[in-house]
Amino acid sequence: MSDQSNLPASGDGAGHSRVPEPLEDQDVAPGLPAHVWRPTDVDPKAEKRAERQVAALFIFSMVCAVLFVVAYFSFEIGREIDTFLGFGASNLFLGLTLGLGMLAIGVGVIQWARKLMSDVEIAELRHPAASSEEDRETTLKALTAGLDESGIGRRPLIRNTLLGALAFAGVPLVVALRDLGPRNMSASRLEKTFWMEGMYIVRDVLGTRINRADLEIGDLLNGEPEGLVPNSEGHLPAPIGPNGQELRPALDHEQLLIEKVKSAVIVLRMSPGDIVRNPDRENWDVDGIVCYSKICTHVGCPIALNEQQTHHLLCPCHQSTFDLADSGKVVFGPAGHSLPQMHLAADDEGYLYAMGDFDEPVGPSYWERG
Ligand code: FES
Repeated sequence: MSDQSNLPASGDGAGHSRVPEPLEDQDVAPGLPAHVWRPTDVDPKAEKRAERQVAALFIFSMVCAVLFVVAYFSFEIGREIDTFLGFGASNLFLGLTLGLGMLAIGVGVIQWARKLMSDVEIAELRHPAASSEEDRETTLKALTAGLDESGIGRRPLIRNTLLGALAFAGVPLVVALRDLGPRNMSASRLEKTFWMEGMYIVRDVLGTRINRADLEIGDLLNGEPEGLVPNSEGHLPAPIGPNGQELRPALDHEQLLIEKVKSAVIVLRMSPGDIVRNPDRENWDVDGIVCYSKICTHVGCPIALNEQQTHHLLCPCHQSTFDLADSGKVVFGPAGHSLPQMHLAADDEGYLYAMGDFDEPVGPSYWERG
């Protein structure tokens, strides 16, 4: 709606009016309130100030981009990971600088549109939205006929039970939310796997034990704990330790599915001299044979892309890379934790078994993780 007395005096300095003509015709746009000019439309100082604010946001975004590059090259993510406030410094600063830079561009564009781009009301003429009286009557008749045919008015029992069924249909959804709660995400269920001292490693499909002599340098096998792979008769045997003792009772089908997803491992042989000997896991390998969880610590993809020369293991999902010669440390990518390692031993015949569960919880991070 036009209010000619309030038109701004400012222009673009070239003799052109910067503000488009507002709507004038009461009949064309009935009921439209009088146009209110923004401070930046009527005050050249406010306009300049807004322009500088937008430019400052874009400059801030450039600074963030430069800081991103600085952070990329400054923080160590190799053998020694730099930390800041307990977080991986590289991931933290890369995320912050990239996020703030993007945010500044977004806010700058919004401010530009709000304060400086042209500000006019536009009326678009449309035909009336309401249906004709005749159409409404026809629709109403069709609805009434449908209700009569369904008999819903004559059958209160069906009507009431249908309403009840619809009301109860939402209950399973609400109950299923419980699975997201702390009870089912308890740390103890995620911290422990099926592995325990004395449990043999078997090949994941065949279920046969792995002998140290079976592996050449550079070989990589997928393994599982004995007791999770059905025998040739289709039964799950109870796992037996090196001294013939039964380690755990055989599992039922549901337990099997739960344990299987957590316990998968990869077994790799490298030259013993290539292994970085960390004091707390001095003898965790058997002749250069090491064992790690197969579940990526980023978001849990199974990992198996091995680079023989470097002993790096690559996750195909988002390219997190772990150094298997150095305690499974993250050397690249978004994973926030080393790959959990298992202490290995071999019995008198050379078959490999675990000396205990993994050194830390398997899989991605979660709130309660230490
Ligand atoms: S799940 Fe492995 S890098 Fe994302």
